[in-house]
Amino acid sequence: MKRLVKAPWALSGEISVPGDKSISHRAVMLNSIARGDARVSNFAQSADCLATVACMRALGVKIRAIKGGGLIVRGAGEEGLKESQDVLCAENSATTMRLLAGLLAAQPFMSIITGDESLRSRPMDRVIQPLRLMGAQIWGRDGDTRAPLVIKGGQLYGIPYTLPVASAQLKSALILAALSARGDTVIREPMPSRDHTERMLKAMGAKITVKKDTVIVSPSLLKAVDIVVPGDISSSAYWMVAGAIHPQASIRLLNVGINPTRSGIIDVLKEMGAELKVENERMVGGEPVADIRVQSSRLIGTEIEGELIPRVIDEIPLIAMAASVARGKTVIKDARELRVKETDRISATVKELRKLGADVAELSDGMVIRGRKKLKGAACDSHGDHRLAMMLGVAALVAEGDTEIDNAEVVNISYPKFWEDLARLSTG
Ligand code: S3P
Repeated sequence: MKRLVKAPWALSGEISVPGDKSISHRAVMLNSIARGDARVSNFAQSADCLATVACMRALGVKIRAIKGGGLIVRGAGEEGLKESQDVLCAENSATTMRLLAGLLAAQPFMSIITGDESLRSRPMDRVIQPLRLMGAQIWGRDGDTRAPLVIKGGQLYGIPYTLPVASAQLKSALILAALSARGDTVIREPMPSRDHTERMLKAMGAKITVKKDTVIVSPSLLKAVDIVVPGDISSSAYWMVAGAIHPQASIRLLNVGINPTRSGIIDVLKEMGAELKVENERMVGGEPVADIRVQSSRLIGTEIEGELIPRVIDEIPLIAMAASVARGKTVIKDARELRVKETDRISATVKELRKLGADVAELSDGMVIRGRKKLKGAACDSHGDHRLAMMLGVAALVAEGDTEIDNAEVVNISYPKFWEDLARLSTG
């Protein structure tokens, strides 16, 4: 599907973005192996999270949709999952595949997990290797580096392990495996990554300790917990940037998760001079939540590197776009992980922003952007990547002339109503 977007005269209104994708996956997976029923409210009804629901159902878990977009998950308990009669499909979702790999490595049956073309090209050796060290029998295509994955589940053993990359998917896969391993598992991270798994497991009664850069997990039984999923900060980020770069904007974002391991976008935009206010801070089910107000701002260039990178990992294409209309130079470094996301997000971002007239240079681990006053509308392509499609949609809001975005329907992966919300905020 092609989407034509014209720059509106003004952008204004209130938005409740969909439930957080990372938390929605975990709410379903963890409650599936817990004892009892759990209600998951504001569950993200996006293709990625629905892939997790389909996989857990194939493994015998009863999951029922309820009014208002929530789910009831009937926990199967620690030994209640059943061998799937067919190959499990994670579609486009690496979170589904990697977390399930950890979960299934300890189950007493055989599983095969595949995904779409993008997911089948992404690195899986990062989960295969440590799970093997824990005693798992797990194989992948292409020299045990890629999906489909074949897992013959069995008894696992706790190990000490230092993650080679700051990845919450990898960390969570090992935590899930550790829950039914013999002995303790000690996971060290090179830098902090999102900690939703740790927070949720604590609420479910797991024996899990977090100390600075280390997570220690002992074998645990889980009790089901109701979860109210906060709005996804990664989806809100598009409107934070849209509000900051559009000359006639005032937007209020309601109920946004501001977990400090995810909230780098707020810090970066403030550093760039955005008129952005975080209001009504509160805790919802163990996660911090707030409302965010943003209005037309004059952005300046910035530098992004090191420990900030995992805190903005999914927002970097969007930050690069904001930087291309900011005053001065922006340098993004230490972000090599972007090359193994749904697409190579460094080369795809550079390619598409250049079509819009931006001045962007590619680095092996990032980008250098020299801000310009105006972008020019052009025919662009999402490369089948939801975050690229939405970044281009926001760029179009400030570009001169029309912008056409090909493969625009891919927003379904995390934010199915993105184009509707964009139209709703736009006037003239
Ligand atoms: C996620 C972790 C991040 C992020 C992805 C969701 C998660 O990936 O990019 O969108 O839910 O754990 P990595 O763990 O590969 O960094």
